[in-house]
Amino acid sequence: MRVLVTGASGFIGSAVVPELLAAGHQVVGLARSDDSAAAIAAAGAQVHRGSLDDLDSLRTGAADSDGVIHLAFIHDFADFDGAARTDRRAIDTFGAALAGSDRPLVIASGVLGLAPGRVATEQDRPDLTAGGMAAHRGANAQAALALAEKGVRSSVLRLPPTVHGAGDHGFVATAVDVARQRGASGYVGDGANRWPAVHRLDAARLFRLAVEKAPAGSVLHGIADEGVPVRALAEVIGRHLGLPTVAVPPERAAEHFGWLGPLLAADAPASSTLTRKLLDWNPSAPDLLADLDEGHYFLDRTASPS
Ligand SMILES: NC(=O)c1ccc[n+]([C@@H]2O[C@H](COP(=O)([O-])OP(=O)(O)OC[C@H]3O[C@@H](n4cnc5c(N)ncnc54)[C@H](OP(=O)(O)O)[C@@H]3O)[C@@H](O)[C@H]2O)c1
Repeated sequence: MRVLVTGASGFIGSAVVPELLAAGHQVVGLARSDDSAAAIAAAGAQVHRGSLDDLDSLRTGAADSDGVIHLAFIHDFADFDGAARTDRRAIDTFGAALAGSDRPLVIASGVLGLAPGRVATEQDRPDLTAGGMAAHRGANAQAALALAEKGVRSSVLRLPPTVHGAGDHGFVATAVDVARQRGASGYVGDGANRWPAVHRLDAARLFRLAVEKAPAGSVLHGIADEGVPVRALAEVIGRHLGLPTVAVPPERAAEHFGWLGPLLAADAPASSTLTRKLLDWNPSAPDLLADLDEGHYFLDRTASPS
């Protein structure tokens, strides 16, 4: 297949590209800058210049492909509404380009907020009335799934908040930065709340399987660890940094962790039983705590939690 990948230069996309190439697919990566284009070409993929704001570039890229994996997202938490609107226009544009062709469109989404306090499954649907980031992304995911009725083999691959691996600049990397800045590795309350996780290499394999064979309208869960207690995560971080592990009272979480506080307090376990069965996906890369023990999260980084 000739697969258009948006976000091909990103943390997950840069694992998806070699996964597709190794399976014999042609890959075309969307690039909005010279740096991204160089990274995509160096990975062995073709470059399609364009951006999420340039709908013509998305339309022509999709029309020239046998399928699309959509990973690009503007992670601007100050204007999440705007980022979600841009994402929605991109999904609609891909849908129009692929309509009636039965070609696949796979989009990334998330599990956070789906079923707080219990194990979320592929059968859970987002609460679109709840507002906030999860509802925005959930609405876009529903729009992608609805394209199945227009002759697009669309699927939504929900990821845990913790896609981990070398080069991670997300939540776990931020938790490490906060621990350094505070001189202690913290968790919220008793730390029994759970975070699901997946290694980027396992996630990449699932994106490949999805574009190859996910039935139209599938919801997939890229979950390897169903729920790692956040206290266990904090303990590994503390051990590697030589810092104490401390409990932070919920009312002080925002002050201590900045924007990460509410996320670190969330209990959001999720399963992938149906996905594993549907696509014969078996995660095999190191789990979250083993990946932390590999040490790459503790190379020097600088970032602010606020
Ligand atoms: N990583 C996680 O833990 C995680 C968890 C849940 C969901 N997700 C979702 O999975 C997807 C991939 O995440 P990621 O961690 O790989 O993200 P990332 O490392 O931040 O990469 C984002 C990608 O999007 C591209 N991009 C951003 N704005 C763009 C624009 N205006 N036009 C074109 N391309 C643009 C970036 O291109 P440049 O190289 O040019 O910047 C980059 O390739 C996203 O939808 C994300 O929300 C990720």
